[in-house]
Amino acid sequence: MILYKGFADLYTKGPYHFSKRLVKYLPKVFNRFRIRPKKLLDLCCGDGRFAVAMARKSIDVTGVDASPYMLRYARQRARKARVKVNFVRQEMQHLYTQTRFDLVTCWFDSINYLLTKSDLDKTFRNINRVLNDGGVFIFDVNTIYGLSVNWQDNSPCVIQDTDRLFEVHICPPIFKRNIVTLRIVGFIKHARDWRRVVEVHKERAYRLSEIRKSFKKAHFKELDCWESLKSMKKPRRDAGKVFFVLKRT
Ligand SMILES: C[S@@+](CC[C@H](N)C(=O)[O-])C[C@H]1O[C@@H](n2cnc3c(N)ncnc32)[C@H](O)[C@@H]1O
Repeated sequence: MILYKGFADLYTKGPYHFSKRLVKYLPKVFNRFRIRPKKLLDLCCGDGRFAVAMARKSIDVTGVDASPYMLRYARQRARKARVKVNFVRQEMQHLYTQTRFDLVTCWFDSINYLLTKSDLDKTFRNINRVLNDGGVFIFDVNTIYGLSVNWQDNSPCVIQDTDRLFEVHICPPIFKRNIVTLRIVGFIKHARDWRRVVEVHKERAYRLSEIRKSFKKAHFKELDCWESLKSMKKPRRDAGKVFFVLKRT
């Protein structure tokens, strides 16, 4: 089942600014690890917010996502910004391209959409293959605490409530095998009618030790791990999210 179908219409109008906000913190990360990206792959690029912002900095950007609906919005965004971004539809666990990149990014819980360790392993291997020697992979991932405590505490959560859009996220208090189910219900106004959108998303949290084991097997070396890209502080026990900076070895 394709996710981010009807939800793409809500997402692209919603307050999903997470990845775009990271743009301003990246130069500090680049300086610390002497990263000078000329070619960037933004994996799970969604509606292209981060990809387009980076293309505006004269970086050669490719955006990959599984949802054709999100990619349609991404292409529109790039056209409007008058930048060239190569958007490709692929699943991250089957990522394949002959192009090589200096930097791969994957933002906003996208890694949590991998529901099996085998898909997590495959994805790290694929990313390693598309990086140049010494290339870097930076991503964030929701932690077990984030999904089992923060998400449940914040449920239900109204994300948008305007004259034309309504969106609510409901996260039932079930956390089985470290997987949460998120029910997204929205209404979008078309002329006088409201269209109802319902999607059920699943995210899996992995122990940090599982993530480390998986990327080490795929020949990545950990450069750093933080609870926020802004603070660059080590994750506390109750961090809801962590960021990893990895280097291809
Ligand atoms: C929360 S959104 C984040 C989008 C974007 N990175 C951002 O920060 O706005 C998650 C994205 O991951 C994509 N996605 C989920 N599973 C995927 C998979 N297996 N392969 C590729 N893309 C996937 C979805 O289509 C969606 O666009």
